[in-house]
Amino acid sequence: MSDKDATEVTTQTILADTAGIARAAQILRDGGLVAVPTETVYGLAARADSAETVAKIYAAKGRPDFNPLIAHVRDADHAAEFAQIGDAAARLCGEHWPGPLTLVLSLCDNADLAPAVTAGLPTVALRAPAHPVMQALLAQIDFPLAAPSANRSGFVSPTTSNHVLETLAGRIDAVVDGGPTEKGLESTIVAVRAGGAMQLLRPGPIEIALAEPITGDAIESPGQLASHYAPGKPVRLNARKVAPDDFVIGFGGVEGDCTLSATGDLDEAAARLYDCLHQAAKSDRSRIAVAPIPDDGIGKAINDRLRRAAA
Ligand code: TXA
Ligand code: MG
Repeated sequence: MSDKDATEVTTQTILADTAGIARAAQILRDGGLVAVPTETVYGLAARADSAETVAKIYAAKGRPDFNPLIAHVRDADHAAEFAQIGDAAARLCGEHWPGPLTLVLSLCDNADLAPAVTAGLPTVALRAPAHPVMQALLAQIDFPLAAPSANRSGFVSPTTSNHVLETLAGRIDAVVDGGPTEKGLESTIVAVRAGGAMQLLRPGPIEIALAEPITGDAIESPGQLASHYAPGKPVRLNARKVAPDDFVIGFGGVEGDCTLSATGDLDEAAARLYDCLHQAAKSDRSRIAVAPIPDDGIGKAINDRLRRAAA
């Protein structure tokens, strides 16, 4: 859709205090769109039980309607209202919830979710986030929150409220400012099939040793499309030499225009990745060069996002 299709609204910035969270909860009850911090990235939240509000998410983001959303729930009991939770899924919930893990599970017949949340699939993606703002919100409302990353479709995911405003100001009712997010990369997504077989759909902050992620544009996880992470200019990975028109993203011994972690700390690098990509996108340099990042631990998820940014 074009910029003109969404009605201009004034986007308020709300403090993440008790009064602010109560206000955000009321906007959500009334069917509004509110960007909220999670420990991964900011999400663009709306009540997941209303077709009308879920449609607003797709419109504000300009997101293709075949790409399903994650429904955010309080905990595993809440999740069981929407999906079938077998032993394997229950074990993952027990180990990692609340936290940066999303489970793709078989949808219950009577799940009170707008069909657009699952884009018509027989499965649903569920996550119980650990961020105190999300938890406080979910405790005050009696519906789950559909929330994709709070960026216009095709832009870099937001890890600060300013990143959110860069692409969504005027298109959403409010953003709750909870400061920079801790993890900085979207949640790990694991599909749990009937019978308990598991498949990694997206690497993320939680490392789960499973079969390799599916690649390319598999229908199963449309957000895996490369363009979803594009900063809008050419990106070169494992760069050892730099040219004058490169915006350099450094790591370890390689100092950049923006450095992911001078000490080579991968958690710090993950937390800073999208801010560096936002800076690179805004800079007057025409290209982006990224220093080599070790493919260990969360480095795998960092390299996954960088490959998509470079594709
Ligand atoms: O950390 C995160 O996961 C953030 C925060 C806000 O929770 N959310 C996020 O949402 O990254 P989004 O929409 O940008 O990515 C969700 C991914 C998409 O790739 C989507 O295709 C996939 O989850 N997905 C959602 N439902 C699915 C389903 N039923 N089966 C397979 N993939 C699904
Ligand atoms: Mg996204």
